[in-house]
Amino acid sequence: MRLHEYYFENLGGKGALDKGGKLFKKMSDSFGSYEDWEKDFRAVGAMRGIGWGVLYQDSASGALCNCWINEHDVGHLAGCHPILILDVFEHAFMIDYGLKRPDYIAAFFKNIDWKAAEGRLK
Ligand SMILES: [Fe+2]
Repeated sequence: MRLHEYYFENLGGKGALDKGGKLFKKMSDSFGSYEDWEKDFRAVGAMRGIGWGVLYQDSASGALCNCWINEHDVGHLAGCHPILILDVFEHAFMIDYGLKRPDYIAAFFKNIDWKAAEGRLK
């Protein structure tokens, strides 16, 4: 339930990520650039199998990392807080996109509510 709450909360945005904001800076610090973060996150979401793509913030270091979660209740990283959630179970995309998961992920990126995601940063 909680992952779906995060997922729907971080959808419905209309604008791009603020390049002067703290999330953009954290992505650049952790991945080298925003573009490198996005490339990695898209690849995580397109991995074989069903599950979740999660951008986490490590509460100890403050660094960001992308992670694949297969089940709602298994595999979450200790001490990490979800910042952005992508649902990649079939029910999230099969009806509209069939096997074209990258097209679903592209649509997801066009509709991210970056303010909601940024608001989760510590
Ligand atoms: Fe779902």
